[in-house]
Amino acid sequence: MKRARLALLISGRGSNMAAILAAAGQDYPAEPVLVLSNRADAAGLATAAAHGVPTAVVESRAFKGDRARFEAALEAELSKHGVEIIALAGFMRVLTEGFVQRWEGRLINIHPSLLPAFPGLDTHARALAAGVRLHGCTVHLVTAGVDEGPILAQAAVPVLPGDTEASLAARVLVEEHRLYPAALSWLAAGHVRLEAGRAIISDAEYQTDSLLNPLPRGAGLSKPVAIGERAKEGHG
Ligand code: GRF
Repeated sequence: MKRARLALLISGRGSNMAAILAAAGQDYPAEPVLVLSNRADAAGLATAAAHGVPTAVVESRAFKGDRARFEAALEAELSKHGVEIIALAGFMRVLTEGFVQRWEGRLINIHPSLLPAFPGLDTHARALAAGVRLHGCTVHLVTAGVDEGPILAQAAVPVLPGDTEASLAARVLVEEHRLYPAALSWLAAGHVRLEAGRAIISDAEYQTDSLLNPLPRGAGLSKPVAIGERAKEGHG
């Protein structure tokens, strides 16, 4: 199998990067060839090195807001390593339209909310403040609009009474680590195509169970009723 040469872009902890590195065995369709950080103090750099993946640092601060020069330095690293596909994994710089267009269809991100709800920062605090009962994460292709690109996959988690930002973030993160390696593998394997701005995944298996939170109880509501049965009962 030809594996797509993958760069992971990080700014910090790198737990999503680590989940992808752990998944990326010989039969995974992407081969991590570079972990690139815009901060020298990113903890994920040591994790990558421990996995034997080459690392590089392009300090965004050194470019003093000159995004074109910063991105030229990124591109130089990417081309040095023959990168074909990029996964953003907690990379905290917004990329310019030019960069995003050059990598269109080959640039993927994970965002800690069920987009299009809560784009941007502080997603868990905002989900708690909004009182949503389901929250989660989204893997999407990157386009020029921040957190707006075609959605590949989402994972939902319940928001529970007493949740704090930290407890909710931890619950979402578990799902991020399952979702991101899977969604990235579909892209790397060439199973994703775009139709009218939406992503179609050719061999995806879809979840058919509904997600209810809180669970309805009493009055016969706790048992899921198939739509067909409801129609038969005359409620349809
Ligand atoms: C994750 O929550 C991810 O969804 C967001 O930034 C965070 C990065 O965490 N884009 P980590 O560095 O992968 O641990």
